[in-house]
Amino acid sequence: MKNSFVIAIDGASSTGKSTLAKGLANALSIAHVDSGAMYRGVTLYAQQQHWITETSFDTQALVANLDDIQLMFKGDRLLLNGKDVSDPIRSMSVSEAVSRVAAISEVRVFLVAQQRTIAAHQSVVMDGRDIGTVVFPNADLKIFLTADPKIRAQRRYEELAPLDATLTFEQILDNITQRDHLDSTRADSPLMQATDAIAIVASDYTIEELHAHVLALVKKLIH
Ligand code: DC
Repeated sequence: MKNSFVIAIDGASSTGKSTLAKGLANALSIAHVDSGAMYRGVTLYAQQQHWITETSFDTQALVANLDDIQLMFKGDRLLLNGKDVSDPIRSMSVSEAVSRVAAISEVRVFLVAQQRTIAAHQSVVMDGRDIGTVVFPNADLKIFLTADPKIRAQRRYEELAPLDATLTFEQILDNITQRDHLDSTRADSPLMQATDAIAIVASDYTIEELHAHVLALVKKLIH
């Protein structure tokens, strides 16, 4: 196997990207980076500073103060300025605001630089929207995951319902559909399949089958 390699896994939300990426990273004993968590971390910070409220978004304040935001992974936990924010970044309020934050080019430049630094000296499985197209156009293996929005909403509902009993399936399906639209129509780095990515319909497989299938691809392509 190569000394150092990059596996890019892109796809819409709740297609199982992060679970797949985490499983691969464990099986290969390499790092996993959930780049979506980084966009969520920036969003949470902007909300804490009241730059994002229900009715307004002070993008200038966020862009001017990006350097105050320090993100770090400790295993799969995300630290924001030293504090573990892995749970709050999954809240509905962050999910509803994050696509607007991810559409800001300065935020993307800020995070893409950090994503490249993480992979500079180690092998990594990174999941997101633009990993195979923008962050690592020369990734050793690119996977593009898709899945039926209703199956994705059900998946997210099962994850979130224990944390928030007021959430409904329809609310989550709405959020997913809206985010798909925003993420794939934004001007900077929209969600898009790289021409050399392998497309996989995640809902055609069980999680175990999907992991075994992709692991076999990794072993075939990275040697
Ligand atoms: O994968 P996720 O749902 O946690 O991602 C959260 C948001 O971040 C999503 O709306 C799109 C954005 N994102 C992005 O623009 N680029 C990435 N590489 C990863 C996520």
